Amino acid sequence: MALHDQTRKTASGDRGEIAARLLVWYDAHHRDLPWRIAPRELARGVRPDPYRVWLSEVMLQQTTVEAVKSYFRAFVQKWPDINALAAAQTEDVMKAWAGLGYYSRARNLKACADLVARQGGSFPDTQAGLRALPGIGAYTAAAIAAIAFDEPAAVVDGNVERVVSRLFSIATPLSEAKGDIRAYVERMVPGTRPGDFAQAMMDLGATICTPRRPRCMLCPLREDCSATVSGDPEHFPVRLPKGEKPLRRGAAFVALRADGAILLRKRADKGLLGGMTEVPTSGWTARVDGATTDAAAPFPGDWRLAGRIGHVFTHFALELDVFKTMTDGAAPVGHFWSLAQEISGEALPTVMKKVIEAAIPGATKKQRAH
Ligand code: ADE
Repeated sequence: MALHDQTRKTASGDRGEIAARLLVWYDAHHRDLPWRIAPRELARGVRPDPYRVWLSEVMLQQTTVEAVKSYFRAFVQKWPDINALAAAQTEDVMKAWAGLGYYSRARNLKACADLVARQGGSFPDTQAGLRALPGIGAYTAAAIAAIAFDEPAAVVDGNVERVVSRLFSIATPLSEAKGDIRAYVERMVPGTRPGDFAQAMMDLGATICTPRRPRCMLCPLREDCSATVSGDPEHFPVRLPKGEKPLRRGAAFVALRADGAILLRKRADKGLLGGMTEVPTSGWTARVDGATTDAAAPFPGDWRLAGRIGHVFTHFALELDVFKTMTDGAAPVGHFWSLAQEISGEALPTVMKKVIEAAIPGATKKQRAH
């Protein structure tokens, strides 16, 4: 990460003050959650149970706090500690998990419980030790280490990324800013109460510094937040524009009869533009280009390039070279002539109307009787 980032200050000052302000806010406004030990309890010497911290963090991976609450309560009632969970039938654990989704998490949960129980029933008390267990990734290891074991670990989830990218107006797209964000968090984590700090950041992100319409007036870090100063906190985190759609190419063939009829065919019922009508084209699809010369025409003839059209589908953009010829032949197998006055009534998708208009301006508009 760049040196200037290491030294950059927030709008109002030092990062140690940020943690202090955040913790004051958390003391008063923390959410009461079934797995959480409130600050006043911690101050009385109550210690978090690593089993409950672990269980909640695994459940919270990819699932919302609201959805997890009832599952967490049911789990700890059935299996109040790691040894009880290790003794449970995997089948019963899977049943209790049903509805939380991502079932590999439940299998890993059971595998982790079995391993920890076999190793004496105590969780490792460091990030590195936790990280080695089944189902515990970097985020979960940091969260458990901070919350259960007071390790000043940088706990960075999506909420925290949003808070930090706003605090420091990080202009780099989020996908490239993760290292910077982690470094900011590492520098903010206080030596005391790192677990409360981690949970305070999450609560702030979930209740105040929300993705849309953040409630900056209520934010304890308002004065520290450079995005608030700039007036547009929702601009952060910056996201890369959606990937460009692939461009497919092909050729389309407008065969015109002297009486104004156009040669058409019907597309296959399944797939893109299924069952709709088209002029003959080369074999382009969403994934492959078609030929772009008159070698792909439905019959040999004096094909002239009449223009080029572009059309954007949901998953790709298409560019078709439009060839035109005059003919008085019979329609090839699978094709039919559509009379000039009937063309506007054909099931032609927009892309095909563009093709025909490029070759014969006005042909797809309703023909008026004179
Ligand atoms: N999301 C994930 N872990 C959490 C925690 N410990 N508190 C609040 N929200 C969370």
